[in-house]
Amino acid sequence: MAGIAYVNGRYLPKAQATVNIEDRGNQFADGVYEVLKVIDGRLSDGDRHFARLHRSLAAIEVDPPMTDRALEQVILETVRRNRLEDATVYVQISRGAAPRDHLFPRDTLPSIMMTARRLKRPDPKAYADGVGVVTAPDLRWLRCEIKSVSLLANVLAKQAAAEDGCYETWLTRDDGVVTECSASNAYIVDASGVLRTHPLSSLILGGVTRSVVLELARAEGLPVEERAFTTAEVDTAHEAFLTSTSSWVMPVVRVDGRAVADGTPGPVTRRLQQAYQAHVFGNRAPTGLSVAASAAAG
Ligand code: PDD
Repeated sequence: MAGIAYVNGRYLPKAQATVNIEDRGNQFADGVYEVLKVIDGRLSDGDRHFARLHRSLAAIEVDPPMTDRALEQVILETVRRNRLEDATVYVQISRGAAPRDHLFPRDTLPSIMMTARRLKRPDPKAYADGVGVVTAPDLRWLRCEIKSVSLLANVLAKQAAAEDGCYETWLTRDDGVVTECSASNAYIVDASGVLRTHPLSSLILGGVTRSVVLELARAEGLPVEERAFTTAEVDTAHEAFLTSTSSWVMPVVRVDGRAVADGTPGPVTRRLQQAYQAHVFGNRAPTGLSVAASAAAG
């Protein structure tokens, strides 16, 4: 679908929205990004996304190209120009263009580019019935807390999952610890009924959905520990799920071909699906998604 992109101060049809051939984002993956939702003309968890964007930019020593307020206006204008109400927006900021050299110049203007599409929602059947994942070694670098556009290891991991008929790859470090997934965070409800996920560290991206879901879980009085789990613990887990801006709370019912517990989404996952939908949409039921009803029935 055609659409309007924002690039370095201009709103242009995507085919004309270009960056300099020597943009360091292209040549070195020298940039960071965010994927966020706009619901009813407002940023969903905008503060959390902007806070993470600031952390990512600071980590690579790039100054924010505009204020948060201005960035919000550009995001909403991009959505408006694409005639969208609910949207998924991709925002990328690179160090800018300069003759190719690993050493980075201090005086480049950062490049900022943005696209918007109709809100990406979880597939209703997957959301209701759960998905399978595979596990694979986490081959990424050791600064995974930066939302870097350098995503080759993630891309290869996600592709491998799809070719195995699965939704995601759960990434593991040497000792069988599950860090996160190729594009989402990973959770189990362990054999003691505790909701577990890898603690914040440089081995994972601190997901905005992760921070929201952990808050919701604590507010629901669920036992929560930000403590890593291993693939061996997945074998005895009661439930598993993953979270991201576009997958929301997605039940995981098979890991490497083995059923998690009885192979159906569990009650904690259901509760968090409901709580997350209420957090994002408030009283407004998300159109076209019958999962709320089936989750409630589950
Ligand atoms: N992916 N971990 C990784 C490696 C991710 O790429 C993502 C997000 C997450 C979840 O973060 P959040 O809850 O803030 O979406 C965890 C985005 C959506 C993407 O690359 O499309």
